[in-house]
Amino acid sequence: MRKNRLRLVGALAALLVAAGIGAGPPAQARHEPPTLADLAQRHGRYFGSATDNPELVDEPYKALLGSEFDQITPGNGMKWYATEPQQGVFDFAKGDEIVDLARARHQKVRGHTLVWHSQLPGWVTGREWTAPELRAVLKKHIQTEVRHYRGKIYAWDVVNEAFNEDGTYRETVFYKTLGPGYIADALRWAHQADPKARLYLNDYNVEAIGPKSDAYYRLAKELRAQGVPLHGFGLQTHLALQYGYPTTLEDNLRRFSRLGLDTALTEVDVRMQLPVTEEKLAQQADWYRDMTEACLAVRRCVGITVWDYTDKYSWIPAVFPGEGAALPWDEQLRPKPAYFALREALK
Ligand code: G3I
Repeated sequence: MRKNRLRLVGALAALLVAAGIGAGPPAQARHEPPTLADLAQRHGRYFGSATDNPELVDEPYKALLGSEFDQITPGNGMKWYATEPQQGVFDFAKGDEIVDLARARHQKVRGHTLVWHSQLPGWVTGREWTAPELRAVLKKHIQTEVRHYRGKIYAWDVVNEAFNEDGTYRETVFYKTLGPGYIADALRWAHQADPKARLYLNDYNVEAIGPKSDAYYRLAKELRAQGVPLHGFGLQTHLALQYGYPTTLEDNLRRFSRLGLDTALTEVDVRMQLPVTEEKLAQQADWYRDMTEACLAVRRCVGITVWDYTDKYSWIPAVFPGEGAALPWDEQLRPKPAYFALREALK
């Protein structure tokens, strides 16, 4: 009798489960492998991707962007030319589209970027400025944008690409007009506008220890000593197989951590000379694995962002003719060896 009742209960449970009503996750979800974001979160990290507004009409692309990552960076939508195309006329439509999308999917947003010599609107580059004029323009730009996104941005790339390869200051309009103090000012203004956002300096070719990363190290130390609100150092990590892997990456991350700063790999891609071969893809996968392990080995390396996730939307072919295939997914959104290497490193 008792046996029969048990059998009945068992059959009923099986029926409910088959109908998707039983306890536990539905059958479909149960078999889905964890995403890169899931795996990164187990280490207290995020795993993100850049994206750009024109791509958001591509539904399969958008689906993966929404499911695999827990952090998004607008590739262009928050830059000065997009957000203040005319002096004092602000347009946050592009940035808002990406922020809204990210928030709907509980993804963090890295704001990119407030002060940069590139992609400036014509009204900034097309005339001479006195120091007081440019100071006022810069402060207004930073504070209007940061205030607009207050509470919605996890971290800002406040100043982007401030140094030359030899560690001297890049002669941008900001440096030439305002002197090196523009960096501390920019950080202070951003902090006033959103005290909770993590504020970063960000650059490329700073993955290895060398003159350029040394310049950031010295500057960061100085700014921290002066109590300037600097919270992180972003290493863009645009690598190329033909130039070798930055083997001092982990040590480099660690020295910034010791200054009390977060670090992040903010714009990762690993390009190669075309055509693609199995060998190059395998080497690329090793590099993605190695940089992920380096980040995981350093407590304050908070996350990794690829500079878009698919070769379909990579910036590389347009800028480096004959090079490409830099991202973990190919142009058909199929995962490459680099994707599986990332998973391995995060496991
Ligand atoms: O918006 C125009 C469009 O109207 C026009 O038809 C088209 C024709 O070329 O150009 C469009 O502008 C392009 C813009 O991206 C938006 O798509 C520019 O030509 C193109 O140069 C620009 O490239 C961006 C690049 O920054 C500019 O330096 C890339 O998408 C963007 O991924 C890239 O990102 C930078 C980071 O901000 C900083 N670190 C380096 C990284 C790679 O260069």
